[in-house]
Amino acid sequence: MHLLIPAAGSGRRMGADRNKLLLKLLDKSLLGWTLTAAGASESIIWIGIIGQKADFPDFEAIASQVSLDIPVEFVEGGKTRQESVYNGLQALPPEADRVLIHDGARCLATPALFDRCSQVLRSCPGLIAAVPVKDTIKVVGNYNLIEDTPDRAQLWAAQTPQGFEVQLLKECHEKGRHLGWDVTDDAALFERCDLPVRIVEGEETNLKVTTPVDLRVAEFILRERLAIGQ
Ligand code: CTP
Ligand code: MG
Repeated sequence: MHLLIPAAGSGRRMGADRNKLLLKLLDKSLLGWTLTAAGASESIIWIGIIGQKADFPDFEAIASQVSLDIPVEFVEGGKTRQESVYNGLQALPPEADRVLIHDGARCLATPALFDRCSQVLRSCPGLIAAVPVKDTIKVVGNYNLIEDTPDRAQLWAAQTPQGFEVQLLKECHEKGRHLGWDVTDDAALFERCDLPVRIVEGEETNLKVTTPVDLRVAEFILRERLAIGQ
């Protein structure tokens, strides 16, 4: 399975002065943890890291420290995650018929999750890892007034990996660019094109490190994992 890692953000909500994926968690950068998990999965055979040019020297150093035994390529990202993934798709080798896309910022995903998604993707055109929502979610309108309380039994929180047939996802991205769709994940493009996207059970610990609190929570989870030798 080919894997694209969007890593071309700036980490605005983290409030750091550089890409948050270069921040350290224990002894490794966020990107280093993500690459380690992807490299340890049995199904991933190629990785494309999508980044901003200025970060490439750091990314190359991180990739060489992780010492992966599969090919790794660097692809220049865009202004939005959507653009970054678009660029990544163009850089896939021609033999890639299915692809997993996993945010560099979800650095706690386990190798088993990559393998589970790869396995399911053999029998469906699109999937995402997701977990049932624990909070009650409110739809809020003007003046901070609640408009609706959707039934929680039907709500899932989207994670990555997300996986797709490459040709179909490329077509969805082209259509999205043409019609000016602005989405935060690739499943949303698939959905808008009326293509089916299956849910694969994700992991509660597979959080997206977005704010300084997430960084502390991620550190706690990693320490627990290391303590029990996982
Ligand atoms: N990403 C990307 N290209 C962009 C923007 C984001 O590849 N132009 C990547 C990020 O590097 C991250 C993932 O998409 O791995 C999810 O994005 P997010 O968590 O929002 O990261 P940032 O955009 O860096 O953070 P923020 O929105 O707080 O600035
Ligand atoms: Mg962002």
